[in-house]
Amino acid sequence: MSVQEMEKRKDSAAAEGVKASETKSETAAAQKKENVLRLEDLTMQFGGVVAVNNLSLEVNKGEIVALIGPNGAGKTTAFNCITGVYQPTNGRITFLGQTLMEGCPTGRAAKTYAGEKAGKYTKNIHHSPDEICRAGIARTFQNIRLFPKQSVFDNVLVAKHMRAKQNPFTATFGLNHAEEKRMREETWALLKEQNLDSYASYEAGSLPYGMQRRLEIARALATDPKLLCLDEPAAGMNPQETLDLSDFIKKIRDQYHLTILLIEHHMNLVMGISDRIYCIDFGKLIAKGTAEEVANDPKVISAYLGMQEVV
Ligand SMILES: Nc1ncnc2c1ncn2[C@@H]1O[C@H](COP(=O)(O)OP(=O)(O)OP(=O)(O)O)[C@@H](O)[C@H]1O
Ligand SMILES: [Mg+2]
Repeated sequence: MSVQEMEKRKDSAAAEGVKASETKSETAAAQKKENVLRLEDLTMQFGGVVAVNNLSLEVNKGEIVALIGPNGAGKTTAFNCITGVYQPTNGRITFLGQTLMEGCPTGRAAKTYAGEKAGKYTKNIHHSPDEICRAGIARTFQNIRLFPKQSVFDNVLVAKHMRAKQNPFTATFGLNHAEEKRMREETWALLKEQNLDSYASYEAGSLPYGMQRRLEIARALATDPKLLCLDEPAAGMNPQETLDLSDFIKKIRDQYHLTILLIEHHMNLVMGISDRIYCIDFGKLIAKGTAEEVANDPKVISAYLGMQEVV
């Protein structure tokens, strides 16, 4: 083989190597950015109130993303659209690449529509909250919604039943035993992991406030979610409980391979754990970026402190 031929081969091998490493890094980048949730132009109008106005955001696999904004900004309404409580007036919600919800103002709503991007979306696609939960989105509520008179154990077990295969036929022929046993064991294991097992027989409503919030998260985890939406998980907690919650959220993200969308007013918590932050005011996105970028954004400061609009 001539020297030129050898040089040629070396060059092409090097080129192949570069190509392979480029493909590798592209794949790594794509994996890193695997999209879990996408809101496109999400708008929710109640009568004359546009509670969420043309909101677009993305949450990628493994991220903790925070949605912040002053009282009445539209954060819970956005969660209610994502979890199927409301059908969006306009816009689209995509979960793991599938359209979960889509809305477009039709009929009378089209005449009163006060949001943006009318005409961009043409379908009305809606899934019920239980279908969305089965698809892999679990949530907690701003005002705790446990079954207060049921035991801690039953509050978690009922969420496990969401994925049960049993039906009246299997019940009639006594075929549910193995599945019920498995779900009970899994409930115990989950309570143990969350240090709630010693309270298993307590009424949920009798637990201290911080623990009720933890139980609500445990119940959400029992549905085996891919995306966990937490609506003000630190509300009503003391500083120590809030600090513990911050570690707890990071721990469950890693342990259960979760992606987390978080609404929170407690800025220390948000700034400490969020990979990215979106800030809305009057339903509209006013800032997005890292904790530092958002915290120093004059529009965010203005919205929170109620100062005059900073341009
Ligand atoms: N079902 C509804 N019908 C009519 N208006 C509603 C409804 N739900 C919410 N709104 C209005 O939408 C706006 C946004 O409310 P939302 O509860 O989403 O705000 P938020 O950002 O979660 O506030 P907070 O931080 O106080 O929880 C408010 O003006 C609220 O009154
Ligand atoms: Mg709210």
